[in-house]
Amino acid sequence: MSALPTHRALRLGVNIDHVATLRNARGTPWPDPARAARIAADAGADGITAHLREDRRHIRDDDIPAIMAATGLPLNFEMAATDEMQAIALRHRPHAVCIVPERREERTTEGGLDVAGDENRLGDFIAPLRAAGIRVSLFIGHDPRQIEAAARIGAAVVELHTGAYCDLDTEGRTAERDAELLNLIRGAALAGELGLEVHAGHGLTFGNVGPVAAIPEVRELNIGHFLVAEAVFMGLGPAVAEMRRLMDAARA
Ligand code: PXP
Repeated sequence: MSALPTHRALRLGVNIDHVATLRNARGTPWPDPARAARIAADAGADGITAHLREDRRHIRDDDIPAIMAATGLPLNFEMAATDEMQAIALRHRPHAVCIVPERREERTTEGGLDVAGDENRLGDFIAPLRAAGIRVSLFIGHDPRQIEAAARIGAAVVELHTGAYCDLDTEGRTAERDAELLNLIRGAALAGELGLEVHAGHGLTFGNVGPVAAIPEVRELNIGHFLVAEAVFMGLGPAVAEMRRLMDAARA
């Protein structure tokens, strides 16, 4: 079983959080994240991802059913490991939940979860989600300790944080970028050996997606900010279609 439909070896989950951010900036109903989800679906997305943050700076509670109803695609619901979010997930039963660390003052999700340091609590936390048939993904770095802990607590999926790789690429620090990519490749291989499905995401762009898409164990990429940024210039549908094309090219 996979988090998103299996008709493709590498799936694209489109994160529509920043459509909501733009809407929230003016308090208008537009741009509508559910409409963005429909456009992404028509352009070749395999799933929709959205993060309900504690401060609701991205999607809001009432966006969840609207996004779920907007397309036939599975929702990958990103959330912090809090009681409030667990109750919301159990109420809506999205296809998958991706547990992310959350700090109120951060601009974006800056690091991976410390699964190894919080193993017992996270194991207990995901148990009701698993029991409800929700696929549980943990957003972590490539550290083998974190990957092994994710397998031990029974997660189905690990999503590897590609933010450092992307930042090093943007900064032109190519040797460090390549070392980071190698760590992602090794992390994906270890996760695959442990029976975890491997996803990746954060900071991916047209320019840096190829090497990550080429990692054979990676089954899904979740991409948001760059696609919404490109949508300003080329439209969301064409941006999603171009990302899809680059992913397929890297995989071929
Ligand atoms: N995956 C996870 C777990 C995330 O938290 C985010 C950012 O919300 C993404 C993927 C997408 O990152 P970006 O918006 O930089 O493409």
